[in-house]
Amino acid sequence: MDIDKLKALVAEAAVTEIRSNLTPNSVLGIGTGSTTNIFIERLGTIKEEFEGAVASSKASEKKLIEAGIRVYDINSLKKIDVYVDGADEADRNLCLTKGGGGALTREKIVSSAAEKFICIIDYTKEVETLGKFPIPIEVIPMAMSLVEKRIHLMGGFVTHREGFITDNGNIILDAHNLDIPNPLMIEDLINGIPGVVTVGLFAKERPDLLLIAMPDGKIQTKQQHVIS
Ligand code: 5RP
Repeated sequence: MDIDKLKALVAEAAVTEIRSNLTPNSVLGIGTGSTTNIFIERLGTIKEEFEGAVASSKASEKKLIEAGIRVYDINSLKKIDVYVDGADEADRNLCLTKGGGGALTREKIVSSAAEKFICIIDYTKEVETLGKFPIPIEVIPMAMSLVEKRIHLMGGFVTHREGFITDNGNIILDAHNLDIPNPLMIEDLINGIPGVVTVGLFAKERPDLLLIAMPDGKIQTKQQHVIS
């Protein structure tokens, strides 16, 4: 089945997953990307069943408004019921690489603030070990060469997304060729480099639930477990 069809199926599955728990007071956290965009469209058809949403990017905020969904400032809220977002890679422990769209920092803030995180992907995003997809890093511009050197010391190299400025006014470096057998450790290491705002590894903030659209269109479900 074609990938766009699979994205639509998994987005629909996420709507089904959250729908029974929605109340008129529910506020949803919304990720960024093409899979999430389809989720937003589907959500627009049931917008009377919940209060509104928090966006993880200006792009998603625009989509939400177009779908007629009320958008809230995260700091005005007591609670975000559930966060739904895509990913660039997912390993078998549900550790993720995110930030292909450059929204990783806000995605990590909203997913961390939410009571539940549901990640929606198609089967091409499932990997044995993270790292084939370059790891996005949001960096304060002044720290660009420092971060580049530190990633080099870790055995990788970075490319700069020329002309791309994040919603927070920073740059994105994509780290290639990193060996990531332990995403938790690498997440800590990269986040510890001065000038790094966020790395797009989601190992501390893994999803509670991963929905995967398989090649035949069936949806596979994986729950978070303790990493041994
Ligand atoms: C954006 C992200 C996206 O979730 C990720 O890039 C997947 O996008 P898509 O659904 O378009 O494949 O992390 O920053």
